[in-house]
Amino acid sequence: MIEAQALRKRYGANEVLRGVSLTVRRGEVAAIIGPSGSGKSTFLRCLNHLETIDSGAIAIEGEPLVATDAAGRCVYVPDLQLRRICAKTGMVFQHFNLFPHLTVLENLIEAPMVVQGVPRAEAVARAEALLDKVGLAPKRDSYPARLSGGQKQRVAIARALAMQPAIMLFDEPTSALDPELTGEVLRTMRELAEERMTMLVVTHEMGFAREVAHTVAFMDQGELVAARPAREFFADPGHERARAFLNHML
Ligand SMILES: Nc1ncnc2c1ncn2[C@@H]1O[C@H](COP(=O)(O)OP(=O)(O)O)[C@@H](O)[C@H]1O
Ligand SMILES: [Mg+2]
Repeated sequence: MIEAQALRKRYGANEVLRGVSLTVRRGEVAAIIGPSGSGKSTFLRCLNHLETIDSGAIAIEGEPLVATDAAGRCVYVPDLQLRRICAKTGMVFQHFNLFPHLTVLENLIEAPMVVQGVPRAEAVARAEALLDKVGLAPKRDSYPARLSGGQKQRVAIARALAMQPAIMLFDEPTSALDPELTGEVLRTMRELAEERMTMLVVTHEMGFAREVAHTVAFMDQGELVAARPAREFFADPGHERARAFLNHML
């Protein structure tokens, strides 16, 4: 579902991704852990073209998004195709990024109506079903400012799902939450995983990674240094820096 090959990305002199490769298969949950500044967010953002790569290749559901030719030139597919492929992924951010001037329901129907041309009645029906699913049907007409962080994040998940993506990308979805609110968000994510949603999750929640992820990858200084089955990873991450990080986190 996701194939990233040798992604490189630099900001000025700072090489943030130094040849990152990762494959996530259909229905799998992959977790990425690693210290702050290691390039985790940049990697996720490259997968749905919120950032461009300098070289490497990305394919989503078998469709190339970007490739690098023999001359080392990085070539993205044409715009229309690019947008169609990026629409296969939904993204959930650390800081929710809800539209503050829209109600919960309006947050959910905006993109389907504007981007996908879904008729309003259908968008509303879809949104109501999703709010029900994340346990927030009663908040339908509330504004984001009136919600707790955990509720905001569940709305953000529902909003991403409203676009009917094939893959969900999560960038530290619980890092901005008080500890007592992380559980409700992790529960929603766990339910998605049980429905076999393909998920790539950057997280510091080791319990979630251990119990829900099929594979765990460790990123450090722009390199993805260890990707292995979760059980194996936690028994032996296979890399010194990953081991030190785990010892620190657990
Ligand atoms: N838009 C940007 N411009 C310049 N540097 C950036 C930008 N975004 C991220 N960086 C730098 O890239 C590195 C990796 O950042 P990031 O991907 O956010 O790491 P992580 O998510 O693992 O904390 C950091 O050194 C950060 O300062
Ligand atoms: Mg980050």
